Amino acid sequence: MTNNNEQYSFAVLTMSDKGARGEREDTSGGYLRERLTREGYTFQHYEIIPDNKQVIIDRLKNLADDRKVALIVTTGGTGVSPTDVTPEAMNEILEKEIPGMAEAMRSASLLKTSRAMLSRGKAGIRGESLIINLPGSLKAARENLEVVLPVIPHALEKIKGGTSDCGVV
Ligand code: MTE
Repeated sequence: MTNNNEQYSFAVLTMSDKGARGEREDTSGGYLRERLTREGYTFQHYEIIPDNKQVIIDRLKNLADDRKVALIVTTGGTGVSPTDVTPEAMNEILEKEIPGMAEAMRSASLLKTSRAMLSRGKAGIRGESLIINLPGSLKAARENLEVVLPVIPHALEKIKGGTSDCGVV
């Protein structure tokens, strides 16, 4: 990989009650780990946790505050079923929201499926960590991640206080 992404650690968190009980294979989490590694980022943590708001809050705080993970990507729990609480956990822990990242994922996804409007996923910053929610299915996680991948290195640099020129595309 001929980029500087290895300086940034990443974690993948899968939100799934069934996955956490070992009743469903986590294809999305495995894919995201492989894809971000291929993109040059340094793997730090992967875990399947239940759709429980307090568990999600505690884990995101731990990864951002204690382990200082630069990029935290979550998959699942963004939709409209009663157990989907990932955005509600984000509301409690984000210090700054980046609405444009979530909007970009939804608008690109709408070209593929009208169901994209059902994802309530967010993106934002806590400390020096960038946290991005993706939907849960492998197809949706893959399609959404591809939308934001090109902008993540610049976002991470800026979050750390980098002064590179934003005008250069
Ligand atoms: N986005 C893309 N690009 N492709 C998809 O197939 N599926 C949608 C949506 N976003 C989808 C997508 C569906 S069906 C749902 S219910 C929501 O994501 C929320 O998914 P989640 O509850 O698994 O997080």
